[in-house]
Amino acid sequence: MEQYAIKGGNPLVGEVEIGGAKNAALAILAAATMTDETVLIENVPDVRDTNVLIQAMESIGVIVSRIDRHTMKINASHIHDLTIEDDYIKKIRASYYLLGALLGKYRKAEVSLPGGCNIGLRPIDQHIKGFRALGASVRIEHGLIITETEELKGNHIYLDVVSVGATINVMMAATMATGKTTIENAAKEPHVVDLANFLNSMGADIKGAGTDVIRIKGVPKLHGSEYTIIPDQIEAGTFMFAAAVTKGDVTVKNVIPKHLESISAKLLEIGCEIEESDDAVRVVASKPLGHTHVKTLPYPGFPTDMQPQIVVALGLSGGTSIVTESIFENRFKYVDELTRMGASIKVEGNTAIIDGVERYTGAGITAPDLRAGAALVIAGLSAEGLTVVDDIKFIERGYEDFHLKLQTLGAQIERVNTERELQKFKLKVG
Ligand code: UD1
Repeated sequence: MEQYAIKGGNPLVGEVEIGGAKNAALAILAAATMTDETVLIENVPDVRDTNVLIQAMESIGVIVSRIDRHTMKINASHIHDLTIEDDYIKKIRASYYLLGALLGKYRKAEVSLPGGCNIGLRPIDQHIKGFRALGASVRIEHGLIITETEELKGNHIYLDVVSVGATINVMMAATMATGKTTIENAAKEPHVVDLANFLNSMGADIKGAGTDVIRIKGVPKLHGSEYTIIPDQIEAGTFMFAAAVTKGDVTVKNVIPKHLESISAKLLEIGCEIEESDDAVRVVASKPLGHTHVKTLPYPGFPTDMQPQIVVALGLSGGTSIVTESIFENRFKYVDELTRMGASIKVEGNTAIIDGVERYTGAGITAPDLRAGAALVIAGLSAEGLTVVDDIKFIERGYEDFHLKLQTLGAQIERVNTERELQKFKLKVG
């Protein structure tokens, strides 16, 4: 029964080191299987999603040696199976990156249909469209996506929706296709760029990542490389909003401030002060929070993965805010939990109308998914009294040592496993 027990009310103050980007790591780990030479990857976050992917890679013969908690050597020269049918792998969305990687290298891959966060329908038609455009057949049988071809050929692909996953998957496969591929309407997220940089460091020829047209000249072979994953934009953003919500003063370190611009801009709008340096951003929340409107958009717009966190902040602002979720259709499920903490939010379709309240009050709540779970934790940190968050396994999919990092900023939070530990925490915090 792992839970977070939280006694709210302490402003978060201090510095926190941000880890490697989970979403970049998932793509880069999968891409590391595309060469027979050894690859060294640094700044891999030690979170459940990356560990599940590594386990799946090991199950097909990839050798992963951990040099330290965040550094690993990967050698994929002895892959003996192109079918990944792991019970765990279904639980992470990015398992399908092994499709693009293995299709590129071996012209065949079979991977269990992915799951991931339950935030609405998550079709994969654009991935399939991309693979087919490269000449591969794709079918779904017995819960597996099976893709194969004799020859993978470059092509011109227009994605109908801006999809991070489809851009990454098609980019990986096209890297080892013959000829040129153009991906139009590509996603521009920092992790798309990070993957392109990593593939290029292995000998790929990819240009334009970070714009909406990516051009790839296929290469027959990739070689070994040493690469450091970018910092996690969403982990950083979550701590920035934790500072805002608790009226704190937090510096997120080891970040790329440019990746945080849409987040910093919204914090400024609601009255926080922001100080940027080369690789850190400081958020000071000394005034009452103001209201604003937000629409989630593909990068460089405001990230959907920060939507629950900003809703938690706007729920405490003076005034009415409107938040429109334009990426996923079912991403307000956590609002019921926040309402139990005293929030006043009305959801209509993909819009939340938020009337700011003065404070939240602690309650027993359940994390419905990864980002909403983290947002509910920061609501708990600001709330009066005790909050107990259930189903923290979702949060641990993407945040490394979340409670420990929060503790270093002065939060009263503990990870408890038993009723007894919970009682002990209650006695301790009074
Ligand atoms: C990735 C991130 C996730 C983030 C999301 C949007 C990873 C592992 N996950 O998810 O944290 O919330 O980007 O920034 O990097 N779509 C289709 N057809 C497809 C693919 C997607 O219609 O074939 C739609 C989706 O339903 C959604 C939109 O496109 O409405 C964006 O999805 P996408 O960018 O693909 O998200 P993911 O890659 O799944």
